[in-house]
Amino acid sequence: MGKILIAGGIKGGIGKSTLAANLAVLAARAGQEVLLVDADPQETTATWAAARSEQRGELAPVTTVSIIGRQIRDELRRLSEKYGVVIVDAGARDTSTQRAALSVASLLLLPFPPRGPDLWTLDAVAQTVSDVRSINEGLRAIAFVNRADPIGSDNAEAEAAFAEHGEVIEAAPVRIGNRKGIATSHLMGLGACEAQRPDPKAVAELNALFRYAFSISDAP
Ligand SMILES: Nc1ncnc2c1ncn2[C@@H]1O[C@H](COP(=O)(O)OP(=O)(O)O)[C@@H](O)[C@H]1O
Ligand SMILES: [Mg+2]
Repeated sequence: MGKILIAGGIKGGIGKSTLAANLAVLAARAGQEVLLVDADPQETTATWAAARSEQRGELAPVTTVSIIGRQIRDELRRLSEKYGVVIVDAGARDTSTQRAALSVASLLLLPFPPRGPDLWTLDAVAQTVSDVRSINEGLRAIAFVNRADPIGSDNAEAEAAFAEHGEVIEAAPVRIGNRKGIATSHLMGLGACEAQRPDPKAVAELNALFRYAFSISDAP
């Protein structure tokens, strides 16, 4: 059975869709059979896939489907038999879909900005993870800063807030900077590494996230 990864969290605009697409591209480039599931009624990932299909030239194949609602649980089970890895872009508002997906997932990715009200949702996110673990014991959750600041102490302060929930959520040893190349490539249906002139820092950070997330979800 292939692994199921979910880019989730309670807030919108934190990078779920962007990071899900980048992880899907990196997994595909690493030779895995990848399914990217858009579970957000806002359809950002479906739009990304449409833009990707307009791109010329050889791109690593990322199959995309949209699944909303509680049936996502059974669908993910079924699809994970077919694909090496299934990555779900979860809608922040659609909590019932997200919970249903979490009940069969191996890893929840939780991007957070380095400051602000999104960090206040950590308690609620940790509670959700604890709840889901009563039916899906093996679920792991990793939090990390996305759109990290180039300087200052806010990134580290956010990571200290993750550590306060360390029994439930692991603080991943990665930071993704606030990089224009990540945003512009996503608008074109690409991963940051597929841009015409890739931003090497963005590529290195996303590779680090990819390696970390995939090594964790391979662990027993
Ligand atoms: N690391 C990053 N660097 C620059 N822009 C980013 C980064 N991550 C996300 N963004 C931008 O932030 C906005 C929200 O990201 P998105 O992935 O759509 O969030 P979500 O799916 O959580 O709502 C988008 O415009 C996206 O391009
Ligand atoms: Mg989104």
